[in-house]
Amino acid sequence: MLEFSDMRVVTVGLLTLFLLGVIPARTSLLAQKRSVWDGVYTAEQAARGERSFSRSCGGCHRDDASGGDDSEPPLRGQNFTPNWEDASIAGLYDFIATNMPRNKPGSLPLPECVDIVAFLLKLNGMPPGQTELPTDMKILSAIQFTAARPK
Ligand code: HEC
Repeated sequence: MLEFSDMRVVTVGLLTLFLLGVIPARTSLLAQKRSVWDGVYTAEQAARGERSFSRSCGGCHRDDASGGDDSEPPLRGQNFTPNWEDASIAGLYDFIATNMPRNKPGSLPLPECVDIVAFLLKLNGMPPGQTELPTDMKILSAIQFTAARPK
């Protein structure tokens, strides 16, 4: 027969295992590392982003983001992706939200900024998925930007 004190040791032991095992497992699920190749935006969101982009950004960067006549840089391809290589897309989102449009920085609502990020991912060949990109910096920080499609 187990004494009462033995039972307590067992209970505390089980509780410790639970705390060590289960809680970190949940935390790592929330902060799971993903890349832009994992389907991190939806097609619908990118379509919204395209409309916002053409309204607020296309005048300088062109609607297809190929770059403007007045040395506004392209936002697609080899003159763009190396600038963000291995950064999280929180950086790109934050840059846009803070610095763009150049003539009226910080004027765009945050949901529009994140829709535009989705559109830029699409333009750079990254695939859509089932869930929209949120404006949550913690989640955006866990999504890595990399130009090359993983093998
Ligand atoms: C008035 C012209 C103008 C408008 C409008 C404008 N941009 Fe820009 N953008 C620029 C210029 C010029 C640069 C390069 C200098 C700099 O970084 O400020 C730039 C740089 C950028 C960069 C950095 C490029 C890189 O290679 O990292 C991004 C991203 C960007 N713009 C996104 C946007 C988005 C999104 C919008 C619309 C919300 C927008 N821009 C609107 C002129 C503009």
